Amino acid sequence: MTQRLRKLYGSLDIVSIMDPIALFLEWFAEARARETSDATAVALATADATGRPAVRMVLLKQADARGFVFYTNLESPKVADLRVNPQAELCFHWPVMERQVRISGRVEPVSEAEADAYFATRPRLSQLGAWASKQSRPMAGRFELEQAVAKAGLRFAVGTVPRPRHWSGLRVVPRTLEFWHQRPFRHHDRQRFTREGEGWRHEWLFP
Ligand SMILES: Cc1cc2nc3c(=O)[nH]c(=O)nc-3n(C[C@H](O)[C@H](O)[C@H](O)COP(=O)(O)O)c2cc1C
Repeated sequence: MTQRLRKLYGSLDIVSIMDPIALFLEWFAEARARETSDATAVALATADATGRPAVRMVLLKQADARGFVFYTNLESPKVADLRVNPQAELCFHWPVMERQVRISGRVEPVSEAEADAYFATRPRLSQLGAWASKQSRPMAGRFELEQAVAKAGLRFAVGTVPRPRHWSGLRVVPRTLEFWHQRPFRHHDRQRFTREGEGWRHEWLFP
């Protein structure tokens, strides 16, 4: 039976077909192994209170049944958007594998402990950068950033660099996940999972 389904759906893993998180993790692992650029890079779309959209790249740092986590400056425009409209969409494109994954849902902060644990794994210069950067605000020139990094370096010259309060993680809790896989002649595979109670509704979509 599984063999027959595999034939029907090609590379899609039938075993995980009703579990979009498992399917994502499988595609993600393959992307990390095969893509030539950073497979964790993902476009994050938000919208402000007036509905005006904004999109930018972030790096996916954690993915599991709870959701999809990225880290950022909490005083940045993306977080200002999310404070008034906590809905976002992530879009991965893995060109070597000819696949796209879209994930939309509500955004929640990660726990302080989770953010601290991740911050502690970052290189020291990245940690100092988190203190130094007033993300997305105008600066006089590169020198201002370098000065701010040097200042943070002096401030935390001894011991570990603590996580700044203005820097943390956000988790996109998925409501829908859509998996797109390129096929010849634009006869692509598209399947969408929508959260329904404790489980997921699965649909195939015209490409
Ligand atoms: C490949 C790539 C990865 C990035 N990863 C992050 C990230 O994980 N977190 C982040 O805050 N900005 C990241 N950035 C920078 C953002 O795209 C963006 O410039 C910045 O967060 C400011 O966005 P905002 O003004 O919309 O808040 C990344 C940029 C690129 C090109």
